[in-house]
Amino acid sequence: MRRGDGGGDLGPWLVLAGAWGAIALVAGAWSAGRIAGWLWGTGARGPDLGVDFVLALLRDGPATVWAGVPPAAVATVFAAEALVVGVCVNSVTARLRGRVRATVPVGSLAGLADVAPLAPDQARRRARALRPSLEHLHRRRTPADECGVAVGQLSGRPGARHALRASWEDVLLAVMAPRAGKTTALAVPAVLEAPGAVVATSNKADLWASTSALRAGRTAERVWVFDPQRIVFAPQTWWWNPLRGVDTVEEAHRLAGHFVQEVRGTRDKDFWSSAAHDLLTGLLLAAAVSGKNLHDVFAWLNDPTTPEPADLLRAQGRAAAAASLRGRQLGAAETRDGVYETARTAAQCLRDDSIMAWVSPPSPAGPGAPARVLDELDAPAFARSRQTLYLLSRDGAGAAAPLVAALTDRVMRAAVRLAERRGGRLDPPLLAVLDEAANICRISDLPDLYSHLGSRGVVPLTILQSYGQGRRVWGDHGMDALWSAATCKIIGAGLDDAKVAEDISRLIGDHDVTTRSTSRGRGSATTSTSQRSQRILGADAVRALPRGGAILLATGCRAAYVVLTPWYRAPHSAEVAAASSAAGRLLTERAAQLPSEDGAP
Ligand SMILES: Nc1ncnc2c1ncn2[C@@H]1O[C@H](COP(=O)(O)OP(=O)(O)OP(=O)(O)O)[C@@H](O)[C@H]1O
Ligand SMILES: [Mg+2]
Repeated sequence: MRRGDGGGDLGPWLVLAGAWGAIALVAGAWSAGRIAGWLWGTGARGPDLGVDFVLALLRDGPATVWAGVPPAAVATVFAAEALVVGVCVNSVTARLRGRVRATVPVGSLAGLADVAPLAPDQARRRARALRPSLEHLHRRRTPADECGVAVGQLSGRPGARHALRASWEDVLLAVMAPRAGKTTALAVPAVLEAPGAVVATSNKADLWASTSALRAGRTAERVWVFDPQRIVFAPQTWWWNPLRGVDTVEEAHRLAGHFVQEVRGTRDKDFWSSAAHDLLTGLLLAAAVSGKNLHDVFAWLNDPTTPEPADLLRAQGRAAAAASLRGRQLGAAETRDGVYETARTAAQCLRDDSIMAWVSPPSPAGPGAPARVLDELDAPAFARSRQTLYLLSRDGAGAAAPLVAALTDRVMRAAVRLAERRGGRLDPPLLAVLDEAANICRISDLPDLYSHLGSRGVVPLTILQSYGQGRRVWGDHGMDALWSAATCKIIGAGLDDAKVAEDISRLIGDHDVTTRSTSRGRGSATTSTSQRSQRILGADAVRALPRGGAILLATGCRAAYVVLTPWYRAPHSAEVAAASSAAGRLLTERAAQLPSEDGAP
C-alpha cells in the first residue's frame, strides 16, 4: 500500500459531497422562495420541495414559480440563508480548532524546518543513502513507504500537514494509554507499509486481522502466524525449534533469560531467579547439544536429581557446564528444590501441550498415525526474505510470552548477523513492531539491543502503555536506557505519571509569552505588557494530550506535535476494513470448528 497513490480514493467523497451540496442548494432555494413570499405578503405558496419543484424552477424561472414575488427578493433571502449557514459552520470549526490550540500551542513547537530530516524531501534522501536498492528509482518517484516508518503528520496551519517519517536507521519507542491508537495508528500502518520482512507481536487479533492478508498480497511471500493460545485460531502449519543454533553457554543463557524474565522482578539480581537462570541454561544447553528437545528439558525440570543432562553435557565435551549443573543438583536439598521450583515457574509455558506443539518436533496426530509434516521456521532465512511473522500470546502466567520474546530476539539477531555479513545494513530493512512489548515480548536486554539494531537496518518499534509498564519489565535503569537509546520517541494521550510528564515537559522546552496587565487609577487605565519565559507544555498539558495527537521527540530535532492517522481514516481504509472483516469472519469460522473452552458447543 502506497501513500502517494491515495488520490483516487477521493472520487466517492467528491460525488457524495456534490450530491449533498446540490440537495442543500435546492432546499435553500425552495425555502428562500417561501420566506420571500411570506415577507412580500403573497403567502408562503409555491410547489412542494421535490423533483417537480426543481424542474419547474429550471424550466419557468423564479418569477413564475413564486408568482407575485420579485426574483430579487428571493435572491436576497437566499443570500441571507447562505450567510447564516457560513457563519455557523465557521464558528463550529473555529471552536473545534481552538480546543486543540488551547491544550497544545503548536505555534511554539517544531515547524517544518525544525523537523526537516523527517519531512518528505530529506526522508527520501536519507532512505536512498541507506538503501542502495532504491538507486534505480527516480528520486522524486521513490515511494513514500520505502523511505521510513510513518510517525504522524506535523500539525501546523490547518490544511498544511506534512507526513513525517523516521529513517531506516532510527529505533522507535511509543508510549500511549490504552485505546489511544497504538495499534490502529502506529502498528497497523507500519506493518502495511514495511518494504521488507516484518515481525509483529500482539496479544489481540486486531493487528493480524487488519494486516495479514494485505501483507501477503503485497509481498507475495509467506505469512507465518505463531498462535499457540488460539488468539486468531490459526491452524498450525509450522514449528520453531528454540534449541536450533544453541551451541554455546552464552546462547543457552540468552534463551533461558527469556523464561526467567517471567519471574524476575525489577530487582535484577535476586538469588532465586539468578540460580534458576543458571539451571535453565545448563538444561537447555544439554538438550541442544545432544539432539533432545523441550519435552526433555521439561522432564528434567521435574526430576531434580536426574544425572541425564549432566551426562549428556559431559559426553559432548561440555565438562564445565556438566560440573556446574551436577553441583547444583547435589547441593543442599532445600536450596536445590527452591531453585528448581523457580525454574519451573519461569518455564511454566512448557507445561501446556498446545504451546509445546509449536516449539517441539512434530509428533504423530494419534497412536499409529504418521508424524505431521510441518515446516520449520528458519530465522536466518526469514531475515533474508520479505515475509511476515505474527507472534501472538496472551498476557499472564503460563502464556507463550517467553517464546514470543525468544523468537523475536532470534529473528532480530539473525538479521543483524546477516547485515554484518553483507557489509553493514539490511536492505530492505527488517521491521519489528513490538505491540504490547511489556506484556508479551519482554526481551531482557532490549535496551542494549536498541543501541545497535538501527545501524544494521533492523528497525524496532516498541509500543508501551506507560513508562511505568516499561519500568516494571526492564527496571528503572533499563527503562531509562531504552528511553535514551530510542532515537524517535512518540508520546501520546494518557501519560499519567507525574514525574515522566514533568520530564517530557522539560524536554519540550520553554517559550516566551507576552502578558498584558491593566491598572486603573484616577479614572484612567494604563495597560502594560511584559514577556516571561514559561513551559511550552506544562506537565498537566502533557498529561492532557488529546487522543489522536502525540509529541514526537526525534534526535537532533525540536519537539513536534503530530497528528496520528489511524488506518480507518487513511487512504485505502476501505481496503483494510474489508481485509479486517474477512479476517474476522475467518477467525469466527475457525473458532466454531473447535469445541469451546467451557465445553459448550
Ligand atoms: N475500525 C475502526 N473504526 C473506528 N474506530 C476504531 C476502529 N478500530 C478501532 N477504533 C477505535 O480507535 C481507538 C484506538 O484503538 P487502538 O486499538 O488503536 O487502541 P490501542 O492504543 O492499541 O489500545 P489497546 O491498548 O487496548 O490495545 C479506540 O477507541 C477504538 O475504539
Ligand atoms: Mg492495541
